[in-house]
Amino acid sequence: IPVDPFDLVIFGATGDLAQRKILPALFRRFCAGQFCKASRIIGAARTMHDRDTYRAMVASAIREHAPHRGCEDGTLEQFLDTLDYVQLEATGETGWKALAEHLTPGRVRAFYFSVGPGLFGELAQRLHDYGLTTQETRIVVEKPFGRDLHSAQELNAMLASHFRESQIYRIDHYLGKETVQNLMVVRFANMLFEPLWNSQYVDHIQITVAESAGIAGRAEYYDRAGAMRDMVQNHLMQLLCLTAMEPPARFEPDALRDEKLKVIRALDPVLPHHIVRGQFQAVAGQEAAHPSYRDEAGNPRSTTESYIALRVHISNWRWAGTPFYLRTGKRLVARSSVISVMFKDAPHSIFGQECGRHANVLTIRLQPNEGITFQVTIKEPGPGGMRLIDVPLDMTFAEALGPEGEDPPDAYERLIMDVIRGNQTLFMRGDEVEAAWAWTDPIIADWEQRGEVPKPYESGSPGPGDAELLMKRDQRYWRGIKP
Ligand code: BG6
Repeated sequence: IPVDPFDLVIFGATGDLAQRKILPALFRRFCAGQFCKASRIIGAARTMHDRDTYRAMVASAIREHAPHRGCEDGTLEQFLDTLDYVQLEATGETGWKALAEHLTPGRVRAFYFSVGPGLFGELAQRLHDYGLTTQETRIVVEKPFGRDLHSAQELNAMLASHFRESQIYRIDHYLGKETVQNLMVVRFANMLFEPLWNSQYVDHIQITVAESAGIAGRAEYYDRAGAMRDMVQNHLMQLLCLTAMEPPARFEPDALRDEKLKVIRALDPVLPHHIVRGQFQAVAGQEAAHPSYRDEAGNPRSTTESYIALRVHISNWRWAGTPFYLRTGKRLVARSSVISVMFKDAPHSIFGQECGRHANVLTIRLQPNEGITFQVTIKEPGPGGMRLIDVPLDMTFAEALGPEGEDPPDAYERLIMDVIRGNQTLFMRGDEVEAAWAWTDPIIADWEQRGEVPKPYESGSPGPGDAELLMKRDQRYWRGIKP
């Protein structure tokens, strides 16, 4: 459904996120006819550009990151026509009056803070001072949303002094991923799964977000953050919440966010022996493809974790006794994000011991190769007696739904249009972010206090051996990380 013309201002418009994600996503939505030429996208940044050089920069970013998909020739030029550029100082007075002149009264007005959190306060203050905020104003902020509970509270308080909570869109781009949204549909639009979705039938749940890439280009940020702050506090936490939460009464922002918040608040503190931190090491002779974390970070003494695995308990009626195992890491064997719901064995095998143990597994593949697989046990075909095998009922979304080879829409496409439509369902509320930090902080404080050193794992491997032990101790095993 096309939206009414809007004004979108991107602060940090020459930065990596804007060029790689935000503008390509907008272009794709433009190609899909979701907004028209009357909308204005105004890039704002410190760098000197005029409209034409900025448009040329965006054109090349789009050619690189959003190759034409069902787009007419000439659409890129039409899209570029919606772009303007203002050279602006977030911490000074340059450019703000010029920005005001680009804005149209009466329209939805979104300000995307694609800058470090250190500038959020300055931007908010100047938007206020120059009278640029209206009832129809929304602001979009990106992670890292603080680096602990205290800084997140400060950020929330600062934003709250200028904007209502209903105007603040905190992005966790995992919520915009197609399959993450599908997780809710699979759970709450089918009768099949929800009655079994609890500790009575589920042995445990695994959530894996494995990446094959390293930290190149972002070393400075990453070395201060580590996997816990960069991935677990936000993306894995959101996946955990959507997997574990109670059904909200309606698919509406606060109904959903209330349920997620209840999950976070029900998390037990994690015991130190339920956590494995790792850091990747170079592969001898292949340092170019497989460098060490310390080389990539440019910090020979770094003790930042590039991998983490942990066993998490949710203390509530649904999940008591069913652990969730979470893991994420850089430079692992493949890029693969998967949620696996491991059901319990049947209580009694009528086929006898020799048929072995079999259990159902529901696997939700978030990326790549988005889809769902349900592992069921059947009789091995043939006359040779009763032998049981596990086979997948597999649905790959691209095959089932789209023309062959079509990529699912990027998370940012959905999220940015939700900002324009004023729908906060897939955005994090301030209290959710704070609750997630309140759970994360003691874990990090404990490492710092004990001077914890991460376990080495080889670049390109599935992660540190200790992560396997974490499972083995519970007589469980990780599902393989497959591309
Ligand atoms: C970002 C993290 O939020 O998410 C990165 O800062 C990570 O470190 C990225 O690589 C992963 O996102 P995606 O969409 O590629 O899975």
